Amino acid sequence: MAGRTQEALYAAIDLELSWSERDLPQARRTKHVHGLHPYLGKFVPQLVEVFLRRYFAPGACVYDPFAGSGTTLVEANVFGADALGADISAFNCLLTRVKTARYSLGELELRLRGALEEARRRVGDATGSSQWLREWFAPRALAELLAYRDVVEDLSEPYADVGRVVLSRAARSARRTTHFDLDFPERPVLEPYHCFKHKRTCRPVEEAAKFLSRYTADTIGRIRAFAPVRSAREVAVLHADSRSVELPVRPTGVVTSPPYPGLIDYHEQHRYAYELLGLADRRAEEIGSAAAGRTNGAVDTYVDAASAVFANTRGQLAPRSRVLIVVNDSRSLYPRILANAGLVLEDRVTRHVNRRTGRRAGEFFEDVLVCRSL
Ligand SMILES: C[S@@+](CC[C@H](N)C(=O)[O-])C[C@H]1O[C@@H](n2cnc3c(N)ncnc32)[C@H](O)[C@@H]1O
Repeated sequence: MAGRTQEALYAAIDLELSWSERDLPQARRTKHVHGLHPYLGKFVPQLVEVFLRRYFAPGACVYDPFAGSGTTLVEANVFGADALGADISAFNCLLTRVKTARYSLGELELRLRGALEEARRRVGDATGSSQWLREWFAPRALAELLAYRDVVEDLSEPYADVGRVVLSRAARSARRTTHFDLDFPERPVLEPYHCFKHKRTCRPVEEAAKFLSRYTADTIGRIRAFAPVRSAREVAVLHADSRSVELPVRPTGVVTSPPYPGLIDYHEQHRYAYELLGLADRRAEEIGSAAAGRTNGAVDTYVDAASAVFANTRGQLAPRSRVLIVVNDSRSLYPRILANAGLVLEDRVTRHVNRRTGRRAGEFFEDVLVCRSL
């Protein structure tokens, strides 16, 4: 392993909550199910792991009101805690369910490989699909995705959900966009282009079958790798607005990272999945979306909404529960939000984040707010 040994690395993270790219390379940050699908704005799992070790004991029940791609739930399960998450984005809930479900591994492999074969036989045309899909995918790619989707929809759960995630990941790669702009493509690219990633002329993708095949194998491998480290603790994922959700159990702690005002559109980020799978779109309830902007009014709305989430959460926690919130609070909104929600700040640790890759590369600081419910 490059850099420090695992134990030395964890000791360093525990001390400073920071690490270098060499110590914690991408492959380890996206280990097993954490790498099932790209997702912008997620936790580094090792950070959650350190929080759990430092502030919780196995047997806890850890809640994440902004569950996102499920990092807290996966790590809480590995740690030996029950895990509960809520998110307003149907795609994020799907992804979290797939990461945390229990599978018969033989059955999983059989079903997913069978779906791939069956879809190859069924490829037809792309009639009946939405205009958005016809714009963003070449005809052949779209026909392959739709054939696979129809086969997957006939599978039983939890295998159908896994197929949906494979479909979404393949769709993300098969969009008519450049290789260097998979995160925020603004419009379809129809002509060959100079590729900054590969330093040559590349063409927009025209097929999806190779991605379906590649991600089927990768998904099976990742779920297999997670099986021996996961625990038998309970995991529940709620597709809900965390301002009003009623939790089925009483959590004993929280580990979460809220959306930041005006930064990311969490629904739009996975638009292809919503279009292909017909998922419920609840973007109007998304807190702090980029579409809502960063005006003073938008920031006030954000403060009210985040306060409502933490007040609703606090009201359903066991007394004196730990609440850990990771934020980039450059506007100092959180002292107000915590006071509104009845949370007491016990410690605030600043973490230097400098390992981002891609077009959003850059350095910034994140705070870890260590709170208690009253
Ligand atoms: C910063 S991300 C969380 C990422 C997560 N920590 C992870 O590792 O994947 C914030 C999440 O809050 C969710 N969200 C926004 N508004 C919400 C609401 N009203 N109720 C529940 N979740 C919401 C977004 O859909 C997004 O997934």
